[in-house]
Amino acid sequence: MTETSGKEGQYARKAVDWSNAEYADAHAYLAHRAQLIATLGVALDPGDEVLDLACGDGGLGEHLLARGLRYAGVDAEPAMVGAARRRLGSRAVVGVGDLNTFVPPTPVAATTVFRAIYYAHDRAAFFARTARFSERKLVFDLNPRQYRVADVVAELEEAGYGRIVLHPFFVPQTQRLPGPVVALAKLAEHTGPLARLVLRARFTYLVAACR
Ligand SMILES: C[S@@+](CC[C@H](N)C(=O)[O-])C[C@H]1O[C@@H](n2cnc3c(N)ncnc32)[C@H](O)[C@@H]1O
Repeated sequence: MTETSGKEGQYARKAVDWSNAEYADAHAYLAHRAQLIATLGVALDPGDEVLDLACGDGGLGEHLLARGLRYAGVDAEPAMVGAARRRLGSRAVVGVGDLNTFVPPTPVAATTVFRAIYYAHDRAAFFARTARFSERKLVFDLNPRQYRVADVVAELEEAGYGRIVLHPFFVPQTQRLPGPVVALAKLAEHTGPLARLVLRARFTYLVAACR
């Protein structure tokens, strides 16, 4: 199998301009993700470091850096790492690594993993390892139609995360909406039972597992 064939090869082929191709409104989507990473569960402070596992082209990094956070990215696909390095330059440290084994040289304030939790060969072990080097929280997205939320929460608790906060994420990935509609979608995230009803059909949770 060549480096660009098979399942992994899909990312090599898509690395250039990944974020703009993948998100109908990359700015609205990634800015909202970054805002929740910085605030959900426990707040991050300017200067705190975020380690983004399976970082893709580092599109999220732009928005975390804009918040005064430090950003380090890791991805298994060298072409993605190249794209992230070109995007972020000296503002971030980005390297090739496998989220199943990667441990940062020093602990970070928060670890994130987006649209990639399914690459963890052993999810419970992944949670346990990240808990050892994530001083404040682990943040990731979770599709409640794909995973039993109660199982995931139990694994996080077992890994040592004391407080798990689930927040619906309603900015669409594949549709660009006018600004006022995006604002309404974000408000709808706070509607409790109604939001949970919507999640039965569409969208994901953003999960903050706090230490
Ligand atoms: C669907 S993309 C998500 C990229 C980015 N996190 C985002 O939300 O746009 C999945 C990413 O996971 C990376 N990936 C796949 N398996 C991985 C692994 N075992 N360790 C680290 N990265 C991996 C791929 O190269 C790809 O960049």
